[in-house]
Amino acid sequence: MNINKIIIAIDGFSSTGKSTIAKQLAKQLNYIYVDTGAMYRAVTLYAMRKNYVSDDKLLTDQLINDLENIKLSFLFNSNLGFAEMYLNNENVEREIRTIEVSKLVSKVSTIPEVRRKLVLEQQKMGTEKGIVMDGRDIGTVVFPNAELKLFMTASADKRATRRYKELLDRGDKVNYEEVLFNVQERDRIDSTRKDSPLVKADDAVEFDNSDMGLEEQFERIMSLVNDRVK
Ligand code: DC
Repeated sequence: MNINKIIIAIDGFSSTGKSTIAKQLAKQLNYIYVDTGAMYRAVTLYAMRKNYVSDDKLLTDQLINDLENIKLSFLFNSNLGFAEMYLNNENVEREIRTIEVSKLVSKVSTIPEVRRKLVLEQQKMGTEKGIVMDGRDIGTVVFPNAELKLFMTASADKRATRRYKELLDRGDKVNYEEVLFNVQERDRIDSTRKDSPLVKADDAVEFDNSDMGLEEQFERIMSLVNDRVK
């Protein structure tokens, strides 16, 4: 078996199945999986609890001054098979996935100081390689030298349908239009922000999985991985 470990950077629009494929890759390769969206969501949850952010406000300076009090960590849950997000030692894995957090996270993610803090933490996690990281700026900013970069896309309707089902399965009360609007609005904010907007890295391989099954997608990506590891 080849012992060369690489960095796999997965970027793309919201709900394109990045985390599903990233978890599967990490399991197959025995790599660490890092969900950077969870980190931005945890900072957003903190800001919501402190009343720094709501639908019509963002107290940027207050949040920046409080950033040093935000401690983020991932703890592996062997029952689930992936790491859960902790905010100041509290498991927030469930709370960060609510539609309320989804509605505000793109706004908080535009703050350069927030990005700088999280990017530094993400870069530290990759020093040993053997990592699969997903987000919006992994191949462009966090690991511009990653050995394999993937860029995931899918139609807004397909993505909203997936997210809607996920939320219903969790027992959340949402309507489809609200979820579709959130997906489109986050794409808009994530792609147009000044600091590290969501763009495809020149050397990223694009996957439109609107109509591609998970198995086919995984096989194609594994063959790219095997090429890079050689
Ligand atoms: O992957 P996700 O949908 O859980 O991410 C939530 C939000 O976090 C996303 O809409 C934008 C932000 N984000 C970011 O700005 N940069 C990243 N690397 C990851 C997420």
